[in-house]
Amino acid sequence: MNDPLNRRKFISTTALAGAAIAGAPMLHGQSKLNGSSIKVAVIGCGGRGSGALANFMEACKILGTKAEIVALADAFDDRVSRLAKKHGVAKELQFTGYEAYKKALATDCEYVIMATPPGFRPVHFAAAIDAGKHCFIEKPVAVDPVGSRAVMAAGEIAKKKGLGVVAGTQRRHQKNYQTNKAKIDAGAIGEIRGGVVQWNGRIPWIKKRQEGWSDNEYITRNWLNFTELSGDHIVEQHVHNIDVAIWFLGRLPVSALGFGGRSRRVTGNQFDFFSVDLNFGDDVHIHSQCRQLAGTYGRVGEMFTGTHGSCYGGGKMTGKDVSIAEIKLESEHGMVQEHIDLITSVRAGKPRNEAQQIAESTLVAIMSRMSSYTGQMIRWVDVTENKRSPFYNYKCQVDPITFETGSIKLPAEEPPIPGKA
Ligand SMILES: NC(=O)c1ccc[n+]([C@@H]2O[C@H](COP(=O)([O-])OP(=O)(O)OC[C@H]3O[C@@H](n4cnc5c(N)ncnc54)[C@H](O)[C@@H]3O)[C@@H](O)[C@H]2O)c1
Repeated sequence: MNDPLNRRKFISTTALAGAAIAGAPMLHGQSKLNGSSIKVAVIGCGGRGSGALANFMEACKILGTKAEIVALADAFDDRVSRLAKKHGVAKELQFTGYEAYKKALATDCEYVIMATPPGFRPVHFAAAIDAGKHCFIEKPVAVDPVGSRAVMAAGEIAKKKGLGVVAGTQRRHQKNYQTNKAKIDAGAIGEIRGGVVQWNGRIPWIKKRQEGWSDNEYITRNWLNFTELSGDHIVEQHVHNIDVAIWFLGRLPVSALGFGGRSRRVTGNQFDFFSVDLNFGDDVHIHSQCRQLAGTYGRVGEMFTGTHGSCYGGGKMTGKDVSIAEIKLESEHGMVQEHIDLITSVRAGKPRNEAQQIAESTLVAIMSRMSSYTGQMIRWVDVTENKRSPFYNYKCQVDPITFETGSIKLPAEEPPIPGKA
């Protein structure tokens, strides 16, 4: 069961079994999302699941269709019922527990919003593709190299099945970023020779352990502070900025060499800060920097220096005047446009598929974290091709499937020690 592909076969079987039990119709032909309504399921009904559902509903409105909620799934009842109450969703469409995703996928949903902690994404995504659903997958999509490659593999299956996949990277669906990317491609700043990408802020939240919580419940409720479910903040949060670097440069880094540490965190097993040299080859280096420490200077963004100018992410640009084709988007909000792009691409018979792209950006962030945790330099080939590398086979010790089958082993609440980890 450690092999994600075998695991997928297992999920396939159990999802089908679940469908039979629930007596719900399975969607065998791929939906074209062109009916008078789109049947949607949400897996992970927390902050982003609720937000993404609202964004999806707004996208449907803009496109002149209706959103029909056919399933809400979450590990915990309080989360499902809160969202269900907001939208008046019937009890029989609410599913709870670690296997709730299977029940949601066994309904006749056409479109799935996935917003659980990223540690679960490879398993849930593979199951959704197996079940023939178009997927909106929140970033990041994995917490280890094995999971990232499983997402890439499921993305390939999605292509063969004609399924659309869009990731919650936001910036790739925003006009300001698309404009700057187009200008860079047209030569506005010349060749990119270096830059810095940053997410410096504070810890978004922590959940203290409550009496009566099992280890499973504690790590799931406090997932943002455990690498096994979040990937650490360099993956969970900073992946947005790393994704922009990969997009603007148009290539992946050759290697990562990072460091980081922890001084103040009171829960979980993550670092407070990371500083990583991403070597993109051809003597081009991008500094990836992220920090979650209250009371320190905050900056979130990307900056690139070119041979003829410079560019701040989706903002200010200096360099040559270039002309680019007009970019017209239906929504000025990237989080709404993501859904519009997914729906319209499927309707046009050319399903957008961002699985490989987001899995690669996730894996670059994971490679950066692993370099910082261990103190070793890690090459891209070590996580994608070199099967003898310990980093290639690295899999977080808390296996998402274990949540479904029993009790996980709670990791120690202490950070890794570089040079020893
Ligand atoms: N694009 C963005 O800007 C953005 C912003 C915030 C969060 N996110 C991403 O969205 C995802 C969710 O983040 P959030 O802020 O909504 O967290 P959250 O804790 O508010 O919600 C996560 C939900 O998933 C549920 N859950 C956990 N394990 C589950 C399982 N195995 N099966 C079903 N449900 C499960 C939790 O109970 C919770 O309700 C993360 O991947 C996060 O990185 C993206």
